[in-house]
Amino acid sequence: MKLDHKTILITGASSGLGRGMALALSRRDNNLVITARREHLLQELARTIEANGSRCTVCAADAMDSKQSRAVVEAALAAYGRVDVAILNAGGGVAMPMNSARAEEVLGQMRTNYDTFVNFLCPMIEQMQGSGGVIAYTGSPAGSFGLPRSGPYGAAKAAGRLLLDSCRIELARSKIRFVALFPGFTYTDGLDPDEVPIKALIIPQERAVREMLYAIEREQQERMFPRRIRHLITLGRYLPDRVRNWALGRAV
Ligand SMILES: NC(=O)c1ccc[n+]([C@@H]2O[C@H](COP(=O)([O-])OP(=O)(O)OC[C@H]3O[C@@H](n4cnc5c(N)ncnc54)[C@H](OP(=O)(O)O)[C@@H]3O)[C@@H](O)[C@H]2O)c1
Repeated sequence: MKLDHKTILITGASSGLGRGMALALSRRDNNLVITARREHLLQELARTIEANGSRCTVCAADAMDSKQSRAVVEAALAAYGRVDVAILNAGGGVAMPMNSARAEEVLGQMRTNYDTFVNFLCPMIEQMQGSGGVIAYTGSPAGSFGLPRSGPYGAAKAAGRLLLDSCRIELARSKIRFVALFPGFTYTDGLDPDEVPIKALIIPQERAVREMLYAIEREQQERMFPRRIRHLITLGRYLPDRVRNWALGRAV
């Protein structure tokens, strides 16, 4: 799926990775539908997108609300007739040690990362079943196995990953392609560098945007990056649970 002359919906477009992808795609003659809650940031971004030669529809919405999310998809269809690519990227995590977390805070991570994904996933599948398209999901390496201080965030990202895996199997005969993106630590407003144990692991936003668009364009099933994060996660998956948990416990 070449990412030019397309209609592309991006959630979480007001800052960070979503904004970065919207800007990169705006230089390739696309129709962009950008959504998030902070409308003033979306309006500002829309002006740049249009100055770069693409068209833009701004739909401010809370992706935790299924009605508002469906309305965004409907607005995209009304404006451009179809959506070729949906990049479901809204979300974000905060460090949350479980010795002091309240249930509402833990569930809040699920709402911010899982609900915001599902509320767009379902209407997008409905819309793309006939015509086909690409649905990309911004997950996280933190959704691979339990990590200290990011359990609620990791659990929410893991839920999204499993749901997308099921979609890929069930809808294999459809023309919808599902791409799971797992960026490692990336400098954005959403990252607290103090929470990253090894600062050298953090990559610039431009690098992450490049990797994500590369994966979407090639319709890769999944892409975890950078390589050193992918290697650490692969190692963690192969280690016996007891050994991995001991090592992670010592790291905090
Ligand atoms: N940066 C990293 O190191 C990293 C690593 C792995 C995965 N990720 C994932 O990458 C995605 C983008 O994060 P980022 O790093 O770019 O952080 P960011 O700059 O904080 O961007 C998060 C985006 O999500 C939107 N959002 C959050 N809650 C929303 C809601 N309820 N309704 C609508 N939009 C909502 C925000 O917009 P509004 O606040 O305007 O609504 C914002 O546009 C997230 O899913 C995050 O979990 C990031």
